[in-house]
Amino acid sequence: STDLASKLREGTKHSHTMAENTAFMKCFLKGIVEREPFRKLIANLYLVYSALEEQLQRYSTHPVVSLIYFPILNRKANLEKDLVFYYGENWREQISALEAGKVYVERINEVANTEPALLVAHAYVRYMGDLSGGQSLKKIIRSALDLPANEGTGLHEFEQLPSVEAIRAFKGQYRDALNALPVDDALAEKIIAEANYAFELNRNVVHELEADVKAAIGDHVFDLITRQDLPGSTERSPGNNAVRLVAAE
Ligand code: HEM
Repeated sequence: STDLASKLREGTKHSHTMAENTAFMKCFLKGIVEREPFRKLIANLYLVYSALEEQLQRYSTHPVVSLIYFPILNRKANLEKDLVFYYGENWREQISALEAGKVYVERINEVANTEPALLVAHAYVRYMGDLSGGQSLKKIIRSALDLPANEGTGLHEFEQLPSVEAIRAFKGQYRDALNALPVDDALAEKIIAEANYAFELNRNVVHELEADVKAAIGDHVFDLITRQDLPGSTERSPGNNAVRLVAAE
C-alpha cells in the first residue's frame, strides 16, 4: 500500500487548519450563517461539483480515477434541490460564478485534460470534507437558518449513508481505496500538492464571500469573531475529533 490516505491527511493538515480559520468558517462555527453569502457558496459549489462529477464520470474506467469514483457521493442533484430552495425554480438564471469559483472549475477541467489522476485530489478534498466537518456544519446551518425539515442542506445529506456509523464506515472504505491506488511516489506527491491547491481554491471562494458576511453582521461583530485562531481539526489523529465537535455545536 502507498499509505496515500495518511499522506494526504498529514500533507494537507496545515491547509485544513487554514480553511477552518477563514473568517467565513469562523463565523459559521459561532453559528453565524447569513443566507445571502451562504446561497452564493452553494451556487458556486454546484458549479464545482458539476465539473468534478462530469470529469469523474468521463474517467470512470481510468486505472486510477475509477478506483475512487463512488457515485453514491455525487452532490450535483442534491445541490440542485438546495438551489431551488434558496433561489426558486428559476435558480439557473439567478446564480453566477464568483471569480474564485471560475478559477476552481477551470482547474478541475484543466487537470482532467492534462493529468486525470489528479482528480483524486479534488475528489478527496471535497467529499472527505463533506463527510467529516461537513456533518457538524450541517447542524450549525440547520439551526442558524431555522430550516424546514429536509430542505436546504442537501450538500451534506448522503441518502445512502444514513447514520454516523455508515458515514464512518464509508470513510474507512474511501481511505482503503486511496491506499490501493496504483500510484508511485512521484504521483503521490503530485496528488498531495494538488490537494493543497484544492484547499486554497476553497479558501479563495469563501474569501470572496467575506464582504457579504461583514455587511450582514457589521464590522465590530465580524472583527470580534474572526480575530482569534482555532486549533486545526485534522492536526489530531483520524476519528479523534471530540474536542472540535463539542466546540462546533
Ligand atoms: C476532516 C472539521 C472545513 C476538508 C475533518 C475532520 C474534522 C473536520 C473534525 C476529521 C474527521 C475524521 O478524522 O474523521 C472541519 C471543520 C471545518 C472544516 C469544523 C470548518 C469549519 C473543511 C473544509 C474542507 C475540509 C473547508 C475542504 C474544502 C476535510 C478533509 C478531511 C477533513 C479532506 C479528511 C482528512 C483526512 O484525510 O482524514 N474536518 N473541517 N474541511 N476535512 Fe474538514
